[in-house]
Amino acid sequence: MLRRVIGNDEAAIQRVFEAGGADALRILDIACGDCREADTLGETFSELKAEHTGPEATPLDIQLTGIDVRAREIADAQRRFGGKREDKKTGGKREAEFLVGDASKLDQHKQLGDGENFDVVFMRHQNYWNGDRTWEEIFDQALHKLDDEGRLVITSYFDDEHQLALDAIQKLGGKLIVTERNEESRELSTPGKSIDRHVAVFRKKD
Ligand SMILES: C[S@@+](CC[C@H](N)C(=O)[O-])C[C@H]1O[C@@H](n2cnc3c(N)ncnc32)[C@H](O)[C@@H]1O
Repeated sequence: MLRRVIGNDEAAIQRVFEAGGADALRILDIACGDCREADTLGETFSELKAEHTGPEATPLDIQLTGIDVRAREIADAQRRFGGKREDKKTGGKREAEFLVGDASKLDQHKQLGDGENFDVVFMRHQNYWNGDRTWEEIFDQALHKLDDEGRLVITSYFDDEHQLALDAIQKLGGKLIVTERNEESRELSTPGKSIDRHVAVFRKKD
């Protein structure tokens, strides 16, 4: 699903190609929890590049940074996905680090505050309903962490919560490129809730 949605965004694809050279594609995963999506994220972008440029192209290197307020989840993510590894399929390298921190104050975070911006900022299962003010601050910080040509990608569990997030991000200066209902989304026991039910991609408004 993610590959298809991003795959339709020509400018984002161009970015993935460019990052196959000297620099790695920089991905920031906000509110990542234990970051079960780490492998999928790496594979999605690596496969996109391989699909568009053929097997002889330089493999895509990825630099993944995840952040969440929950120290235990971050420790799990670091143990399972942290450090350097090579993607066996594409030969691309991935380096991942996971940080404990409040994403509504990224600009004050000692490792991220003055740091570089990112090609992709990802937020899986954003949680607007669990504190709209905090999540507006998180969205705002996410947009500030984006490179001018970068992409903010969010996913949501619920229809209404997704719509609220779309409205909030656009008000904060995000330009919606695409939003899609994920037909392969797995239903959960709570009515109307399913895994990655919606995926949306934004860039910063000019
Ligand atoms: C619905 S969970 C999603 C976790 C993960 N991305 C996933 O899809 O499994 C929302 C996450 O937001 C994190 N969170 C809530 N407020 C936060 C904040 N101010 N800064 C960083 N993370 C926050 C929670 O700790 C939780 O892990």
